[in-house]
Amino acid sequence: MQEQLRALQQKAEGDLLKCTTLEELNEVRIRYMGKKGELTQILRGMGKLSKEERPIIGSLANEIRDEFDEKLAHITKQIKAQELEQRLEKESIDITLPGIAPEKGRKHPLTQIIEEIEEIFLGLGFTIEEGPEIELDHYNFEALNIPKDHPARDMQDSFYITPEVLLRTHTSPVQARTMEKMKPQYPIKIIVPGKVYRRDDDATHSPMFHQVEGLVIDKNIRFSDLKGTLLSFAQQMFGPKQRIRLRPSFFPFTEPSAEVDISCVICNGKGCRTCQNTGWLEILGSGIVHPNVLEMGGYNPEEVTGFAFGMGVERIAMLKYGIDDMRLLYENDVRFLRQF
Ligand code: DAH
Repeated sequence: MQEQLRALQQKAEGDLLKCTTLEELNEVRIRYMGKKGELTQILRGMGKLSKEERPIIGSLANEIRDEFDEKLAHITKQIKAQELEQRLEKESIDITLPGIAPEKGRKHPLTQIIEEIEEIFLGLGFTIEEGPEIELDHYNFEALNIPKDHPARDMQDSFYITPEVLLRTHTSPVQARTMEKMKPQYPIKIIVPGKVYRRDDDATHSPMFHQVEGLVIDKNIRFSDLKGTLLSFAQQMFGPKQRIRLRPSFFPFTEPSAEVDISCVICNGKGCRTCQNTGWLEILGSGIVHPNVLEMGGYNPEEVTGFAFGMGVERIAMLKYGIDDMRLLYENDVRFLRQF
C-alpha cells in the first residue's frame, strides 16, 4: 500500500505541474483529494491492514495530502500571477496618444449680459427682485397708471389668458409688487431682470424677450439721480468714454419721462448705418415715478419721490456684440453661441 501511495503522489504532482489554469488545478484536486478521489479510494482499503501498519499508512497519507496542498497553493499563486500579467499586458494604454478633450459649456450671451447688468447695479447699491411672468392685468397695467381703456395699452400688444390675466408685457409690474410688499418703508432700490412677452416677431422683435427694470424710491430723489445712475451704468457696460442723451418721451407711469440714448458703440458718435447716421442708440425708457403710481403703491408723493427705468437685454447684447438679427439669440446654434 505504501508503494501504491507513493506512486499516486508522483502521478498527482505530475498532473499538478501540467496545469495552466485555475480550473485545471481544481479538477486535479478533485480527482485526487475529493470525496471520491484516488487517495480516498486507496485509504478505504486500510481496514484490511494490521494494527501496526495502520498508523504508518495513516501518517503517510497525511504527509501526502499536506505536500499536495502545499504544491497546489504554490502553483495556484504562480498561475494567478501569470494571469494578472497577461491581463495587464492586454490592457496596457499608450499614454502618448492625444486625449479626447471634454466639451466645455458656456453661458448663453443673454445670460452673460444679464449677469453683467446685475453686477453693475449691485455695485451701485441695488438689490435684485423678481416677479411672475403670468401676471394680473392689475399689476401689468392698472397699478402703473394705465387704466382699462388707456391708449398706451396699444404700445404693448399683449397675450391675454383671461381678461384679467396675461403674460407680462414688461418688468414694470414688479415696481408695483415691490411697493406693495415694502410700503411704507423706503428707500427702495431694486433692479428686476426677467422675461416679458409681446405679440411681435421680426428681425428686431421676438414674442419673448428680456428686460431689466429699475426702481429707486427715497426722500429727495431727483432727475439728476436718474441721469447719474444711467451714465454710470452706460460707462461700465460700454466703456468709460460713453456719453448718454435723454430725450423727452411719454410713459403713463413716469412724469416726466425720457428715452435714453448712448453714443453709438460702432462709430463712436460720428454716424453710421447702425445708428442711422444719428450718432446715438436708444437703449431704455425711464422717468420720475408718477405720483399716481406712488400713491397706488402705498407711498405719499409729498414725502418721497423716485425714478424708474426699463431696458431691453437683447438690444444691449446686440449692440455690445454687433449682432444684427435678434433671432440668432434664440436659435441655439452652437456655431453662433461659441463665439461669446
Ligand atoms: N416698461 C416700459 C416698456 O416696456 C419701459 C420703461 C419705461 C420702464 C420707463 C420704466 C420706465 O420703468 O420708467 O416699454
